[in-house]
Amino acid sequence: QALNPFVMVMFGATGDLAKRKLYAALYSLYRNKLLHEKFAVIGVGRSSKEPDAFHTYIRECVDQFGRLKVEDEHDWRKFIEHFAYARVDVSKPEDYQILRQAVESQEKKWGIAGNRLFYMAIAPELFGMVSTNLKNGGLTQTSGWKRLVIEKPFGKDYLSAKALNEEIEQTFSEEEIYRIDHYLGKEMVQNIEVIRFANSLFEPLWNNNFIKNIQITASETVGVEERAAYYEHAGALRDMVQNHMLQMLMMVCMEPPSALNMEAIRDEKVKVLRSLRRYQVEEVDNYFVRGQYAEGTINGQPVPGYRQEHNVAPESATETFVAGKLFIDNFRWAGVPIFIRTGKRMAKKMTEIVIEFKEMPKYLYFNREGNLNPNLLVIRINPDEGLSLILNAKRPGTEDDVSPIELEFCNNCGKESPEAYERLFYDAIEGDSTFFTRWDEVALAWKFVDPIRQAWDKAAADTLFSYQAGSWGPLEVERLLAPHGAHWWQVQ
Ligand code: BG6
Repeated sequence: QALNPFVMVMFGATGDLAKRKLYAALYSLYRNKLLHEKFAVIGVGRSSKEPDAFHTYIRECVDQFGRLKVEDEHDWRKFIEHFAYARVDVSKPEDYQILRQAVESQEKKWGIAGNRLFYMAIAPELFGMVSTNLKNGGLTQTSGWKRLVIEKPFGKDYLSAKALNEEIEQTFSEEEIYRIDHYLGKEMVQNIEVIRFANSLFEPLWNNNFIKNIQITASETVGVEERAAYYEHAGALRDMVQNHMLQMLMMVCMEPPSALNMEAIRDEKVKVLRSLRRYQVEEVDNYFVRGQYAEGTINGQPVPGYRQEHNVAPESATETFVAGKLFIDNFRWAGVPIFIRTGKRMAKKMTEIVIEFKEMPKYLYFNREGNLNPNLLVIRINPDEGLSLILNAKRPGTEDDVSPIELEFCNNCGKESPEAYERLFYDAIEGDSTFFTRWDEVALAWKFVDPIRQAWDKAAADTLFSYQAGSWGPLEVERLLAPHGAHWWQVQ
């Protein structure tokens, strides 16, 4: 149920994110009656656009990328009436008067008493300037609430993130800032807490007495696509590790919150980052491996190497793959290695978390190889969503032929889960920031990542390992796992 009427000002209305995700998410929310009937969206862009052309554009986006397709034209017309367009050059303070008039006229049209959501789907260099211009242009003076939804990247290191935060805090308070990490909007990422804290089965085992290691994988088959201008400077470390990978780690490793409210949950998450062992620049090589894809094949199709991609420097040292071994130095996790890996152009699109439990104190049963598989809990995030618990059992009709069996739950079989952005939009409009990142999380995440970046920025080129497109990354990664008697589990 939607309680809040609102006007959303969407900066970057003709950009890639809006096109692929944002309109589709708004439409799904509308169809599911999760938007208040009094709402308006003002798309902001630099070019001029007639209202009809803007509406047609949104329709194309929904047709192409929407989870829910348009079935009823009458209903579509009712939805699209809520969208207006404002031509604004965000760097020109005077243009904010045009925007202000547009907002006020929509508020009047729909009878909305001033709740304003400013959504920054624009280049990160503009975040600070736009928020200052919003304030100076009087747009943040409203009788209702005001909120800022901001996309990543939030800075490029700790210092730049801090400067950005100080700049936007001139206009929005911490409670009004909703920093998006779209992984937190994913159904199965949110489900991690439920699985852990609503089942008496797991929590007693969820510690270093029973867990041997944790493995978090986010692999993609796509390459850099059209984003080289951004990615060349970001690399996989800033693009995936600083945010999505650490967020998943926090969800898996946090203590139970005292209550299910946003501050209690985020307090526990941030404690994980406080206990996360930070590496010195000189020791990074012992814990992290980086790679870059070379040409190879994906789904039977030849694909170029990273350095041959459009707008990538021929000598580029940007990493497209990162693997790491992390430790959380607290009572619960001391000594448990947490292996992470993420990369582009890998063998499979897959995000999953594997919890590997310790071996039995003594083996009474063996599998055919004379061994016994460990118990595994696999949390599948994307694109398959679900859970598997791998146990050992006797094969029917045999006496002691023990082999792994899989208890499987599928979360999105037969019905599609909402897209991350649907949930995040809804929460931002309703004022729930649980699944958004708080400043102290962002700051600590950068403090962890910065020395790794520094080490790589000054390292010799031979610490960047090449891997074939379509593989699981450089073989060098095994040296992180081998000392712990571990290897990657591929259970899907
Ligand atoms: C984004 C990164 O945050 O996440 C992209 O910038 C990456 O490089 C994407 O492709 C992966 O998201 P998902 O939801 O497809 O796993």
